[in-house]
Amino acid sequence: MTPGALLDGKVAVITGAGSGVGRAAALLFAAHGAQVLCGDVRRAWVDETARLVADAGGKALAAVCDVTEEAQVRALIDTAVSEFGRIDVVFNNAGVSTPGLSIGDHADSDWDRLTGVNLRGAFYGCKYAVEVFKEQGGGGTIINTSSVAGLVGFGGVVYGITKGGLNALTKALAIEVGPHRIRVNAICPGPMLTNLTRNENDAFTAATAEELTRYGALNPLPVAVMPEDVANAALFLASDLSTAITGVTLPVDCGFTAR
Ligand SMILES: NC(=O)c1ccc[n+]([C@@H]2O[C@H](COP(=O)([O-])OP(=O)(O)OC[C@H]3O[C@@H](n4cnc5c(N)ncnc54)[C@H](O)[C@@H]3O)[C@@H](O)[C@H]2O)c1
Repeated sequence: MTPGALLDGKVAVITGAGSGVGRAAALLFAAHGAQVLCGDVRRAWVDETARLVADAGGKALAAVCDVTEEAQVRALIDTAVSEFGRIDVVFNNAGVSTPGLSIGDHADSDWDRLTGVNLRGAFYGCKYAVEVFKEQGGGGTIINTSSVAGLVGFGGVVYGITKGGLNALTKALAIEVGPHRIRVNAICPGPMLTNLTRNENDAFTAATAEELTRYGALNPLPVAVMPEDVANAALFLASDLSTAITGVTLPVDCGFTAR
C-alpha cells in the first residue's frame, strides 16, 4: 500500500455517483487506490464523474443504473465483479428529496419516488452486496447515505421516513451479516448545498458565499457540511481503519444533531 492509499486493491460500487456526495466519493476512493464502478440514473453526469476520476489518474467505469429497478442494481454489482474481479465496498448513496413540500403536498407519486430511491434502492444494493460478499467469502463493507432527517425531525416527512427506515435497515442488517464479517454502516449528513435541492437549470452551480453562510448558521460548528466531508467519512468506513465499526448511523453534521 502506498502511503495514504487506504483502499489499495479494493473495488467499490457507488450509486448516485453522478453528482454531490457520490462524485466526491468516487474521486476520493479512486485517489486512495480503489477501482470504482460509478452508477447513476443520469448517463451524462456519471460519465463526467468517471472522466474526472481518469483525469486525476484513477480508475473508474461509469454505468447507468436506476436503483429503483432491482435488475439494474443487480447488473451494476455484477458488472463490478466482471470488470474488476470482485467487490469490497458498496456505497448506497443515490437519493432524492422533495424540497419545500409539506405533508399535504405529497402525492402518492412523491411517496413512491422517495421510498423507491432512498429506501428500496438501498435495500437492493444491500441485498446483492451481501449475496456477492457471501459468495466471495472474507467479508465486505456496505455504506448507506442516510441523513440527519433519519435521526431527528428535519425537512420533509416522507424524506425523513425513508432515512429513518434506512437507519433501521443498516442496524438490522449489520446484526444479520456480522457473522460473515460484512460490515454495514450509515452516514447521516447535515444539510448540504448539492443538486439534491437545486432546480434542473441550476445543477452544478457553485454555492454562493451567502448560501454557505446560511447553511453554516444551522450548525453549532458554524460551517456548511460539504459533500467532501461525507466522502471522507465514507472513506473511513470503507477502509480497514474501521474494521471494528458496524451498525452505526454516523452524523456528519457539524453538530446539527448534538443539540
Ligand atoms: N444534500 C443534502 O442536504 C443531504 C443531506 C443529507 C443526506 N443527503 C443524502 O446524500 C445522498 C447524496 O445526495 P447529494 O446531496 O449528493 O445529492 P445529488 O442530487 O447531488 O446526488 C444524488 C445523485 O443520485 C442520483 N439519483 C437520483 N435518483 C436515482 C436513481 N433512481 N438511481 C440512481 N441514481 C439516482 C442523481 O442523479 C444524483 O447524481 C442522498 O442519499 C441524499 O439523500 C443529502
